[in-house]
Amino acid sequence: MKNWSKVPLCVLPTPIHRLDRISEQLGSDTWIKRDDLTGFALGGNKGRKLEYLMAEAMAQNATAIVSCGASQSNFIRQLGAAAQMCGMHCAVATMESPYESLDRKVSGAFSRGGNRDLDELCGVDRREFADGTWADLKAHAEQLQFELERNGEKVFRIPLGGSSPSAVHAFVEAGREIQKQVDFAFDWIITASSSGSTHIGLAHAFRDSQTQVLGISADPEPEIVDDLIDLSQSYADEVGTHSLSREEIKFSLDFVGAGYGIPSSAGQAATRILMKSEGIALDPIYSAKAFSALLSLVSTNQLEGRILFWHTGGIPALFAKPG
Ligand SMILES: Cc1ncc(COP(=O)(O)O)c(C=O)c1O
Repeated sequence: MKNWSKVPLCVLPTPIHRLDRISEQLGSDTWIKRDDLTGFALGGNKGRKLEYLMAEAMAQNATAIVSCGASQSNFIRQLGAAAQMCGMHCAVATMESPYESLDRKVSGAFSRGGNRDLDELCGVDRREFADGTWADLKAHAEQLQFELERNGEKVFRIPLGGSSPSAVHAFVEAGREIQKQVDFAFDWIITASSSGSTHIGLAHAFRDSQTQVLGISADPEPEIVDDLIDLSQSYADEVGTHSLSREEIKFSLDFVGAGYGIPSSAGQAATRILMKSEGIALDPIYSAKAFSALLSLVSTNQLEGRILFWHTGGIPALFAKPG
């Protein structure tokens, strides 16, 4: 069994509480897990992953971290701060709006302001590239790694969104955290999903239980399910368990709207509803779309029982503007 070590970064456990007004409006029993309040570098789900990723980087005596992401990446913001705290240089390749293939290219991403402005504060060495595919973006990160290595750095490379077995482990632990906070089981957990480790970690934590974990995709590509299966497999290989099957990975592409990085009108409406009912903000790219899914699926009786909305944060992107 792998021995996971971690660098403490987050304020844990994050609160969990019932959404009384939302529950009343929907005629449901709806709760929220406040990973928007992880506290590290403005909060969000990525802090949990970074606790384990930074410990791995330190164990390898890394002097620099290299990663990549879209220009509004919440991961990059938090990664920059974590690297600074661990005394490492953090260099990332970014694009305004990466896409899967040219026929799926979309325009209108909110690429200015928000996280992009905070990256400098968090010590990120951003290298901006013209829009291309996600594969192009990863290739730029690889070149960046070679550049740093030529300059004598020992580089620890982190995949998009931090999604690796350690990041999955972070969310297996997060799932266990709620088992200590409440003495009942949820029927459903709804979370935003993109690079996948939040969703897959929670799905591993609750497999073989009454709780079903539903990932609401922020990306339009159906092929992403294959990446989720691969991620589950790589985690399972590390811990000596079996991976999640395609049927065990519950995933919806129905709430993406126009595309990755573009706010949806249902998400914007959901943001107003949650803010006015409970005083809780959502981000336009991930959590707003996931909460719009919750509202839609509960009101059409597709989600029943006790429901937990896993708030993944991302609030700085609320202040992003069209590019
Ligand atoms: C605010 C927010 N929510 C959800 C996600 C999705 O998490 P994951 O990449 O683990 O699927 C991300 C990251 O991309 C995010 O920044």
